Amino acid sequence: MRHLISPLDFSVEELERLLNLANDIENNPDKYADACKRKKLATCFYEPSTRTRLSFEAAMLNLGGSVLGFAGADSSSAAKGESVSDTIRVISSYADICAIRHPKEGAALVAASKSEIPVINAGDGGHQHPTQTLTDLLTIRSLKGRLDNLTIGLCGDLKFGRTVHSLIHALVRYENVRFVLISPEELRIPEYIREDVLKAKGVEFQEVERLEDAIGSLDALYMTRVQKERFFNEEDYIRLKDFYVLNKAKLSLAKDDMLILHPLPRVNEIAVEVDDDPRAVYFKQAKYGVYVRMALILTLLNIEV
Ligand code: CP
Repeated sequence: MRHLISPLDFSVEELERLLNLANDIENNPDKYADACKRKKLATCFYEPSTRTRLSFEAAMLNLGGSVLGFAGADSSSAAKGESVSDTIRVISSYADICAIRHPKEGAALVAASKSEIPVINAGDGGHQHPTQTLTDLLTIRSLKGRLDNLTIGLCGDLKFGRTVHSLIHALVRYENVRFVLISPEELRIPEYIREDVLKAKGVEFQEVERLEDAIGSLDALYMTRVQKERFFNEEDYIRLKDFYVLNKAKLSLAKDDMLILHPLPRVNEIAVEVDDDPRAVYFKQAKYGVYVRMALILTLLNIEV
């Protein structure tokens, strides 16, 4: 039995197969319509979500399966003090596979250690968000045609943004990927990623504060929101929340084929006027999330079509 807790749980070759499967699902949805008949997905979300939870549910429904679950800790027995370990033991008798989101780093790993069904980390605190990474990789590969030889700009809250942490872990395994890390001083990438991932693997990167200084060199710009829920005080959040706003003026400095990605939800960091620009692919990215989660469910359940 396999789980997906970190983006590194799949080798580059396995990722390639998963992304190919996602592209096949996109092109031939009918072929997969009954692939998960009589299978059930549990979505255990202890934190708010729109895309991740609903795209998982859409994925399972598209595969002919069923879904059950809860959308907040308050509506589960966590509110009465039940542990994640006990909850997953029970869910193991109700479903065939489980996607879990939790505010604590490591919660999905704990769940996996007690589970009798595959567990998917749908976001654990400020740590990792591997299925968002699968979505991001599928989007970049589908629209750029490659995952190597790219200059990727990561902009915004690089300290608390788990999507950025997971994406860096995944992309450093590809040839000649360079990063431009764009953040205010207080929201710089955590030390362990700078030292143990980027420097340790000899990956080319630079850290800058001004988006305007970096945007012209990028093949893809990954915007992120400032993670309000991870701040200890509101004043700091208010001071930093609008540090970056990508608008048409800034976009005029970018390459004609630069992709603009965002895991969403967006708050204020991309002006609505940018949405109609052909380089803005963040809503397409959310759609790719369904195909890749379908591919992931099939892979973890060992179902071949
Ligand atoms: N990208 C993402 O994780 O969105 P949700 O928080 O809406 O699931």
